[in-house]
Amino acid sequence: MNYEELIREANIAKEYSYSPYSHFRVGAALLTKSGKIYRGCNIENASYGATICAERTAVVKAVSEGEKSFEAIAIVSDNEDFTYPCGVCRQFLSEYGLDIIVVLPGKEQARVITLGELLPEAFLPADLDGVKK
Ligand code: THU
Repeated sequence: MNYEELIREANIAKEYSYSPYSHFRVGAALLTKSGKIYRGCNIENASYGATICAERTAVVKAVSEGEKSFEAIAIVSDNEDFTYPCGVCRQFLSEYGLDIIVVLPGKEQARVITLGELLPEAFLPADLDGVKK
């Protein structure tokens, strides 16, 4: 799988964005270690806080189909510069490993960075083990 294909899939996902409030369309494509791709778009809501980002839509689709092993995620918007995942999405993705590669197409070339670089000093599942139950 090359990242060009993953970026193409994210652009397809963006077409389904439901963003009547912000008009900011986002698409994500999540690649599993087994080679499957789950697409996601942002889905806004009249109760603004109920909005879900594209990245989390893709993760929710994948995990609810039994996938938990992820290789990479590409994120696109109509902004020609990088669209970084928001803090909530970084945290949401971190559950599945800080080694996930985040692919961000830009004006000239894509930025390829790990989730761990985008989320240093993360709060992770293992942190819950430090407390007696
Ligand atoms: N959005 C995403 O889908 N992903 C991000 O990481 C950043 C923000 C969406 C949420 C909202 O629908 C719109 O972009 C504007 O914030």
